[in-house]
Amino acid sequence: MINQVQANLLKWYDLNKRDLPFRKDKDPYKIWISEVMLQQTRVIAMLGSYFEFLKELPSLNSLANAEESRVVSLWKGLGYYSRAKNLRKGAIYLATYHNSDFPRNLEDLLKVPGIGPYTARAILSIAYDLPFAVLDGNVKRVLSRLYYFEENINLPKSHKLLQNLADSFLNKNAPGDHNQAVMEIGALVCTPTPNCLACPLSKSCKAKSLGGQDKLPFTTKEKKKIKIEMKFFLLFNANKEIFLYSDSKRKFFKTIPAPPFIIIGENLDESYYEKNKIHINLFKSFTNSPIYLVKKHSITTHEITISYIIEYYNELIPFEHPYLFSSLENLEKNFPSSIAKKISNDIHKKKFFNLKAEL
Ligand code: ADE
Repeated sequence: MINQVQANLLKWYDLNKRDLPFRKDKDPYKIWISEVMLQQTRVIAMLGSYFEFLKELPSLNSLANAEESRVVSLWKGLGYYSRAKNLRKGAIYLATYHNSDFPRNLEDLLKVPGIGPYTARAILSIAYDLPFAVLDGNVKRVLSRLYYFEENINLPKSHKLLQNLADSFLNKNAPGDHNQAVMEIGALVCTPTPNCLACPLSKSCKAKSLGGQDKLPFTTKEKKKIKIEMKFFLLFNANKEIFLYSDSKRKFFKTIPAPPFIIIGENLDESYYEKNKIHINLFKSFTNSPIYLVKKHSITTHEITISYIIEYYNELIPFEHPYLFSSLENLEKNFPSSIAKKISNDIHKKKFFNLKAEL
């Protein structure tokens, strides 16, 4: 029975997987970098950094020989800079003790600085097809529903039990694809509000058969706020006006105009992904722009760190949504959110506007 479920999963993955650069070959170095980046942000937000990182540091040796400050600056925009420093330490360790190669067993791989259980299992399975099941937030959600796991998934003992379930569910004929398929289902289908109709596992899903898919996974009674960073692109035209647009389908500000923004955070589901191509292009175009941080903003469900970049952008934006241009003075009126107030206060405080007088 489980074989059929695994086979359905792999078939779904073959047909539906996202075309991602780190899936193009099985280079353990690239897989390592991608998996560490993916632990702190979602795919769309890491791709620019991923390409830039690999362009500058295409091999394990180049990373081992790079200055720490260089590695940290390539981590710009991803946050958690200690991860960048640890990557470099890990590369030095592998160059020193393993002839610039990756050990093919869990025990030795876990000794590498910066490589923890998730990353080690991801590298061994995806790069070498060794039979190790990964367990991250998405996988926990999928498994807790598939097996009707009712315990609080955040307890350490649950982690062990879920790892056992992941191990027994692993398809040993294709560990790398199987792991990525489970994570992909978690990211695209078995999201907090699941789309069971599109799920290749739904026929065998215990939660679905008991009608409990919306109740699982069980966490604590008090819902923890989801931590995210909202990065706004304040694009000024030649008249020093800011580009705002309306989109009823985006995650936040469904009913009011807002500047383009992307959301960065750990283990976020698909609903946070920006689907609009223009954001992807903006994100890529402005990877080198200074990022300004505003103080924290808390709403019922989310703890938000607001950041923004300011750029002159006079190209015609081919935009399918209604849009307008707003002066900074009228920003709060046109983008009626307390976030607008925080951003415009910050801009005034920093006196950017004078600095950018030539805009
Ligand atoms: N999340 C983290 N790593 C992933 C991968 N390789 N595929 C899909 N989702 C992921």
